Amino acid sequence: MNEINLNLNRTTFGSAENKDNVLSEEEALELLQSWVENERLRLHMKQVGAVMKAWALERERLSKAEAYKWWLAGLLHDADWEKHPNDHCRIIIEELEKRKIDPAVIRCIASHGPRYFGVEPESKMDKMIYVFDELSGFIHAAALIRPTRYEGMDVKSIQKKLKTPSFAAQVNREDIDDAISRTEHNLDEVISFIIHHQKDVQ
Ligand SMILES: [Fe+2]
Ligand SMILES: [Fe+2]
Repeated sequence: MNEINLNLNRTTFGSAENKDNVLSEEEALELLQSWVENERLRLHMKQVGAVMKAWALERERLSKAEAYKWWLAGLLHDADWEKHPNDHCRIIIEELEKRKIDPAVIRCIASHGPRYFGVEPESKMDKMIYVFDELSGFIHAAALIRPTRYEGMDVKSIQKKLKTPSFAAQVNREDIDDAISRTEHNLDEVISFIIHHQKDVQ
C-alpha cells in the first residue's frame, strides 16, 4: 500500500534562533481550515492536538507555553496530507520553517512516523506524537461504531480491537508497539488517557 517514499532525508529542522516562536491559535486554525477540507482529518488533527496538550500539562507538568507547542505540533502534523500525499510532512515542515517556528515543534511533526519519514523521535514531545497519532485515530474509529460513542468505553475493549486485525486494518499495530516501547508508559495508561481527553474534541 505504501509505495511512496516519504523519507525526508534530513534530521535537523528549523533554526535554534526561532526557539519559542509559535503561530497564534488563530493562525494555526486558519492554516488547518485552508489546507484541510476533509472534516474527519481535521477532527483527527484537533484530537491529536488536544491529547498532546493535555499530556504536556497533566503528565509532564509543563508550562502553558510549552504545552501550547505540543498542541501546535499535534494540530498541524497532518496539515499537508490531503493536498500533498506524496510529499506528506515535507510541505508542512517547509511552511513552518518559512514562518520561523520553534524547531522543537517542527521536529516533533517530523517524528510522527519514523518508518515513513526516517526521523527518529528524540524529545518526549516527539515520542508522544508518535504514540498518539495512530492510537488516537484507532480509538476514534472504535468510538464511531459504538452507539454511545466514548461514553462508557473501556481500555479492555480497545485492547481487544487491537488484537483483531480486521478492525481498522489500516492502523499498523507494530507501529503502536514500537511507539509505546520508546516511552516509559504502558499501552493501557495511554489508551485510558486518550479516551478521557479526546471525547469532547470537536
Ligand atoms: Fe501523518
Ligand atoms: Fe495523523
